[in-house]
Amino acid sequence: MRLIAVGLGAAAVATAVALFVPWLPTPASKQADRIDFVFWFVTVICIAIFALVVAVILYAVVRFRARPDDDSDGAPIHGHTGLEIAWTAVPAILVTVIAIVSAVALAQNDRLPKRHIRVNVTAQQFAWTFQYPASKGLTTSSLRLPLGEAVELKMQSKDVIHSFWVPVFGQKEDVVPGITTRLVITPTRLGTFPVVCTELCGEGHALMRSQAIVMRPAAFAAWVKAAQQAAAKATGGASGGGPGLAVFNNQGCSACHTYKPAGSSATTGPDLDNLAADAQRAGQPLDAFVRESIVDPNAYIEKGYQPNIMPQTFKSLPKQQLDALVQFLTGAK
Ligand code: CUA
Repeated sequence: MRLIAVGLGAAAVATAVALFVPWLPTPASKQADRIDFVFWFVTVICIAIFALVVAVILYAVVRFRARPDDDSDGAPIHGHTGLEIAWTAVPAILVTVIAIVSAVALAQNDRLPKRHIRVNVTAQQFAWTFQYPASKGLTTSSLRLPLGEAVELKMQSKDVIHSFWVPVFGQKEDVVPGITTRLVITPTRLGTFPVVCTELCGEGHALMRSQAIVMRPAAFAAWVKAAQQAAAKATGGASGGGPGLAVFNNQGCSACHTYKPAGSSATTGPDLDNLAADAQRAGQPLDAFVRESIVDPNAYIEKGYQPNIMPQTFKSLPKQQLDALVQFLTGAK
């Protein structure tokens, strides 16, 4: 009776710790629900084992403690075949069951329903870009998803290994140069959630953040239409450096910089609305300053910012695109 009482007490404490501490974020996808199920399944088993071990230890420590004036040895017990079989067989069964439950959850999480949308994810130091191939290649710096519809992310890296993680979606997936990795997400909750790079990828790793925005399907469709129109206008328009805006968005500039003419408001890098003042401080003509800052970002570092955060990959931009980008950044002043 005492043994059972101690065991129940230990189980109650462990259960309280499991339930009343918010260990996991509230899931926002079907896949996260399955992972949470595995997590709680394992936790329940752990609590049962914890209670058993604590009960036996506490009971033994109290019940069989050395009494004063009793220096005698305990009874000479050697081995117990029944016990040994039990403590080998029970963990083997438990681990097998956990493996099966995990394998089923992983298989289900990988399954892609027929009706789904696809998003190409590109990772580079230190920004994410998301491209919607079914929507004429619409490219954005934050991931917008319709509620309740499966999405397949096809992920590629332009430089080093990154790792895609939206904590509320429950899964991490490495983004590795040279191969395409995939992840299936079916959002179940509206909201804006952080996208995190969870693989140390360089000095700007901690800043490699974006957002996953889950919208109602109608709102998503409306957004796709509006964004497509805006992109078409930007590329097709003859006025004010339209192609430059396309380069700006495709290269992920909007993921890090605020620039009003592009409608971006990120704060990882300097605000590009102040380029004229920055060029003056750097003592260079605006056009040359902007060009240099794109192809050789460490040449001049704006006060309050760190070197080596901006990718140094833009020197490989085709000249035509670089010209368009510089014109877009300087001409709109
Ligand atoms: Cu990309 Cu860390």
